[in-house]
Amino acid sequence: MIEARDLHYRYEEEGDVLDGVGFRIEPGEKMVLLGANSSGKSTLLKILAGLLFPSRGSYSYKGKPVTRGALRKRDFARAFRREVGLLFQNPDAMLFQSTVYDEIAFGPRQFGLEGVEERVRRWAETLGVERRLGRPPFHLSGGEKQKVCLAAVLAVDPEVLLLDEPTSHMDPRSTGWLVDFLRESGRTTVVTTHNLSLAAELGDRTIVIGENHRLIYDGPIGPLLEDREALLAANLMHAHKHEHDGLEHKHFHTHDWD
Ligand SMILES: Nc1ncnc2c1ncn2[C@@H]1O[C@H](COP(=O)(O)OP(=O)(O)OP(=O)(O)O)[C@@H](O)[C@H]1O
Ligand SMILES: [Mg+2]
Repeated sequence: MIEARDLHYRYEEEGDVLDGVGFRIEPGEKMVLLGANSSGKSTLLKILAGLLFPSRGSYSYKGKPVTRGALRKRDFARAFRREVGLLFQNPDAMLFQSTVYDEIAFGPRQFGLEGVEERVRRWAETLGVERRLGRPPFHLSGGEKQKVCLAAVLAVDPEVLLLDEPTSHMDPRSTGWLVDFLRESGRTTVVTTHNLSLAAELGDRTIVIGENHRLIYDGPIGPLLEDREALLAANLMHAHKHEHDGLEHKHFHTHDWD
């Protein structure tokens, strides 16, 4: 479905933020993308969504190269944009319509899909934002914004979901819903998170981008979660000090629900 080879990306001000990253993702595969802050996860998802283009290396989708030139061709661009959906890390970067309704309807209208109203209502209800449909998105809470963005992505029924920290603003019930939804869905997914407890529920395979911007792990998630050294080295876990009963202890932490 997705083949990335030797991807490099550099921002002028920053230098290389991806330094030779490559992997394949099969149809229906659920992959979790891990890495410390600034390692390049969001940049990688934007490349996979065809919003940024690698400075070196190649990316192909269903066997076809995804390049600026390819996306100038109407048929390919239309199919690719419809089939590959990206949920941005920052909901404010996605929301630009005057109402929640229009926000969710935007994609279906853009692609001329049938049953726009039905799609909007279904996804708004599924994500629990149906009572907000008439409101401007910028009045919503952080979690509501994230749900509206997710509803907008799902309303066009993409085959590939690229979700950049989708649960960062969500409460436990909504997070649980998303985990179940992804598990039951046949869609190919790539999800980033800093929550290691959640990572194991979001997919079976993980790739880790190191602080050197290279791929430092690609494989099943279970063994990685047991490898404390690897987690510390990738800055996915840290050690800090606590006091218990007046005694100082050093603990390892993933800083999520454990
Ligand atoms: N538009 C941009 N212009 C310049 N530098 C950028 C731009 N976007 C990102 N960067 C830089 O590229 C690096 C990688 O950013 P990216 O957002 O891909 O990291 P990330 O792994 O998603 O981090 P986080 O866990 O904080 O979301 C960071 O150092 C960031 O400051
Ligand atoms: Mg990011």
